[in-house]
Amino acid sequence: METKPTFYITTPIYYTSANLHIGHTYSTVAADAIARFKRLTGYDVYFLTGTDEHGQKVESKARDAGVAPKEYVDKLVAGIRELWKLMDISHDGFIRTTDAIHEEFVKKVYERLLETGDLYKGTYEAQYCTPCEAFWTETQAKDGLCPDCGRPVQPAREESYFLAISKYQDWLIDYIEEHPQFIQPTTRTNEMLSFLRSGLSDLCVSRTSFTWGVPLPFDPRHVAYVWIDALTNYLSALGAWTDDDALYQKYWPANVHLVGKEIVRFHTIYWPIILKMLGLPQPLQVFGHGWLLMGKEKIGNSRGNVVDPVKLAARYGTDALRYFLLREIPFGSDGNFTNQALIIRINADLANDLGNLVSRTAAMIEKYFEGTIPAPADIDGEETTLSEHLLHLPGEVEAHMNALSLNLALAAIFRVIGECNKYIDITMPWALAKDESKRGKLASVMYHLAEAVRFAAVLLAPFMPATPGKIARQMGFTSDMLTWDSLAHICGETAGLRVSRGAALFPRIDVEKELAELGMME
Ligand code: ME8
Repeated sequence: METKPTFYITTPIYYTSANLHIGHTYSTVAADAIARFKRLTGYDVYFLTGTDEHGQKVESKARDAGVAPKEYVDKLVAGIRELWKLMDISHDGFIRTTDAIHEEFVKKVYERLLETGDLYKGTYEAQYCTPCEAFWTETQAKDGLCPDCGRPVQPAREESYFLAISKYQDWLIDYIEEHPQFIQPTTRTNEMLSFLRSGLSDLCVSRTSFTWGVPLPFDPRHVAYVWIDALTNYLSALGAWTDDDALYQKYWPANVHLVGKEIVRFHTIYWPIILKMLGLPQPLQVFGHGWLLMGKEKIGNSRGNVVDPVKLAARYGTDALRYFLLREIPFGSDGNFTNQALIIRINADLANDLGNLVSRTAAMIEKYFEGTIPAPADIDGEETTLSEHLLHLPGEVEAHMNALSLNLALAAIFRVIGECNKYIDITMPWALAKDESKRGKLASVMYHLAEAVRFAAVLLAPFMPATPGKIARQMGFTSDMLTWDSLAHICGETAGLRVSRGAALFPRIDVEKELAELGMME
């Protein structure tokens, strides 16, 4: 049997200090769409997500809540798992940094780094941002504020272990220059190169100021720095350096680490250097996507402007919310989140374009062909053009997905959906139906529409996993007609299927009324 190519994709592991919001959901949904697309196109995919549970912030939040840190994080993790279930996330692995397999791996990493001489003991003096778990120099933390989140930093001084990253600076500059695909989008490559050229200081990678972390095996007063702890999840989750390392052997190096743009630095500077120190292969790509904004501000817990994905999914459905997130914002750029934009997208694209195409097609086949998809008969230029566009579409979508231009992949699919609706308006089946001599043409129109709906169902599946099943039930498609390979041809198989029109896929929303109700809920 032919072995499939592998594809390993990861999300950031999320902090367990508060419930996740729409921004975290955005990352995970995007990774899920990519993972599903790769599975559809024949890859053996491993999709990893998880939680980043150690650190000072969790320790102090748990103290405030009067519970042990583990109890505190367990509760949040349960909610995160529920959220991913609700959002139809198809992850293969879920790693917690409190999992024994992970903690053991972190210890081995520190031991190995001590052995290689890249880890050494010294004294640390810097400015620390607790919410970001990041250290800054005086110059970086201008006016005593964290350059990432803008909150006040605190001076910190402690005996610590350091990672000798500065000596890898030139190696990394060369590596990034020689691997232009490594950091994407390209603008982020330039940001990282200029950061590197401004000079790297050795990184402080242990803490004694709190205890909620992985103790260093050779000096247990110290716990591992959360970012080293966190980054190594991508390996520990695969069982690296254990007796059961089949996943590691199969899937490492990762094809894509998908992350928000604010943590590209950790993934493209610290992570590659750590891997280099450990003698391990580099991930092929780190993709930094943009932020969901409210007004001009990043949506985030600290700004109190969070949007709850659970509420939106309950109101509009998971697929509609996923679609909006992936279609609205050019992947890689920032984009605004508003209720209005969400509702307008649902109405225009899902209720009108997609929903109408499916319901009109099913209704017409019921009306003109007693519910059986007819075989095509008289084929004109209109059908030939539509067929050409349909057959071209999978390749176009794949090219966009390979570039992680998720919004462009969706735009291409909806361009063809729009074309189908126009095809109905132009061919006017209701007029053809009045003329017995046009029966052959009418059959061709219905057949081509059914085929177009089938193409849409297959191609939309990675983005909106529940929708293809609903479409298939109305159109009578069987699972073998919903594969990637089945899009290589427009062939006779759909002819003869029984159609039964069902409920609207995406009911139209009354914009004014909905906005008023959402306003009252805030
Ligand atoms: O940084 N728009 O975890 P985190 C888009 N534990 N994406 C957003 C967003 C927004 N407004 N807000 C959050 C951490 N995100 C570390 C990661 S990885 C080894 C360790 C997404 O809980 C985005 O992907 O703060 C961002 O990188 C991630 O959530 C940060 O999640």
